[in-house]
Amino acid sequence: MSWGIFTKTKPTIRLINTFFKEATRQDIDEILTIEQSVFATPWSRQKLLDSFSNPNAHVQLIIHNEKIAGYLITLNSIDFLDILTLAIAPQMQRQGLGKRLLDDLLQRLEPHNAHAILLEVRISNVSAIYFYQQYGFELIDTREKYYSNLEDAKILRLLI
Ligand SMILES: CC(C)(COP(=O)(O)OP(=O)(O)OC[C@H]1O[C@@H](n2cnc3c(N)ncnc32)[C@H](O)[C@@H]1OP(=O)(O)O)[C@@H](O)C(=O)NCCC(=O)NCCS
Repeated sequence: MSWGIFTKTKPTIRLINTFFKEATRQDIDEILTIEQSVFATPWSRQKLLDSFSNPNAHVQLIIHNEKIAGYLITLNSIDFLDILTLAIAPQMQRQGLGKRLLDDLLQRLEPHNAHAILLEVRISNVSAIYFYQQYGFELIDTREKYYSNLEDAKILRLLI
């Protein structure tokens, strides 16, 4: 028997015991473990520490079963917000957590302070580019040789 339009192509995994919280310096080791497991050129401990010292930066965590499952680091500019980095632990990816971190960011934003969210992403990071585009980000520019290995960056923007 066919279920027609009710057929699901992918099971929905319900993530109970999941919540958001702002990170503190005590979370750095767990953040670094994820950072080093998902990026070929991860942020250093010092670069992470700099985010904690910057009053315009915010490090938001998504916690699942009392462990950090992912994080989103943003920087407030005059009328837009920059996503500096976003990562979900490898074993937790593709379960909607990245999307939930972006949903949470939009809820926390004060629209009169930010009109857009911007980010740079490596041109080779096709899954992340697809993820952001699925969310509604549009490709607005390319910065040639932006990264230290001379890889280009794609600039993505979400108008809010
Ligand atoms: C990119 C990243 C943050 C996405 O988080 P995630 O929790 O895995 O993504 P979600 O489950 O919320 O995905 C939402 C949608 O994005 C798309 N998507 C996400 N990952 C994808 C992938 N690897 N391939 C294709 N589509 C993908 C899908 O449309 C997905 O919806 P679906 O699962 O119902 O099809 C995560 O994969 C990650 O941490 N990657 C490594 C670090 C990185 O590249 N960060 C971005 C650079 S700033």
